[in-house]
Amino acid sequence: MTAPSSVPSSTAARSHGAPAVTGARFSRITGTGSYLPPRRLTNHDMVAMLAARGIETSDEWIVERTGIRARHFADDGVNASDLALPAARDALESAGRKPSDVDLIIVATSTPDMVFPSTASILQHKLGVHGCAAFDLQAVCSGFVYALTVADAMVRAGSARCALVVGAEVFSRILDFNDRTTCVLFGDGAGAVVVEASSSPGILAADLHADGRHLGILCTPGTVAGGQVSGTPLLKMDGPAVFKLAVGVLESAARAVLEKAGRTEADLDWLIPHQANIRIMQGTARKLKLPLEKLVATVDEHGNTSAASVPLALDVAVKSGRLRRGDTVMLEGVGGGFTWGAVLFDY
Ligand code: UT7
Repeated sequence: MTAPSSVPSSTAARSHGAPAVTGARFSRITGTGSYLPPRRLTNHDMVAMLAARGIETSDEWIVERTGIRARHFADDGVNASDLALPAARDALESAGRKPSDVDLIIVATSTPDMVFPSTASILQHKLGVHGCAAFDLQAVCSGFVYALTVADAMVRAGSARCALVVGAEVFSRILDFNDRTTCVLFGDGAGAVVVEASSSPGILAADLHADGRHLGILCTPGTVAGGQVSGTPLLKMDGPAVFKLAVGVLESAARAVLEKAGRTEADLDWLIPHQANIRIMQGTARKLKLPLEKLVATVDEHGNTSAASVPLALDVAVKSGRLRRGDTVMLEGVGGGFTWGAVLFDY
């Protein structure tokens, strides 16, 4: 997906506060933000929690197989929108924008507050603004990369001028704490970016995919029917099958998005893949012949936060001063669906 040269603004986009952008229309990330719930559980805490259920795990196993050392869990009653709100405010502040400047909100989540309304509508209300478009996007761990691609397309088409794109998850709610093969892997959190219309390119290209044939290898097969939950609303994953697919698609998406943008691996300053497993992330970097210093890894402290993992890692890289204006960045998502994709941008 490459940017068109010129697209007129819609009336809806013009009705909001941010200044008009004339000439060629592109989209650019103008601010980043994130939020982690305060309750931090180390691997040792998980070992103790599972031991109380008669289930054995170890810090060594978790670190060796995944790189995870800790994760954050939201307290009971804290929902995805409660994590999204501080992350969104943080991103808006870093972009120098107010909630009233926003004319589009997309929340990528697989753990929404309710069946409906959308977590995006709830977030809009909590931000104290009303009227702009707001919807959720569900592509599991690829959700943020999907949502950013949609926001980029809407901004370039003139349907929005200042978009808030959030990944927010409370995966602790859908974990089976009797299944050691999954419950030690995931955490809660939220990350956000502000995407604005720009006369110069920021987001350069995107590449999205899904293959429903693999839907069974990573799923939460429950639903609501007749006032009851039917099925099993707990996460199930065939880890080795996901691992094998992830390694292949992360490389192919990376190469595809570089080709679409007319760039090469050598142009990359930062690779920010979905934070699920350090072995998958480092393997992807090696295949792209990137030095590991160019890999942003937060999986050690966050665990796998699904749709929140990429914007959380992006914000950590920005706030730490490592990722600077002008850097070329590749974001990559992979997960349930089976879904995957990449977005390339100049920050
Ligand atoms: O978010 C979407 C994307 N998700 C991913 O990318 C996850 C992809 N998958 C993975 O990261 C890895 O497959 C896992 C981390 C989930 C598992 O690592 P693995 O190296 O593939 O291990 P395995 O599933 O093949 O299990 C190896 C052994 C098994 O024991 P046996 O059968 O060899 O005796 C498991 O029972 O490790 C055992 N095991 C554990 N041992 C201690 C599995 N979970 C645990 C545990 N603690 N928590």
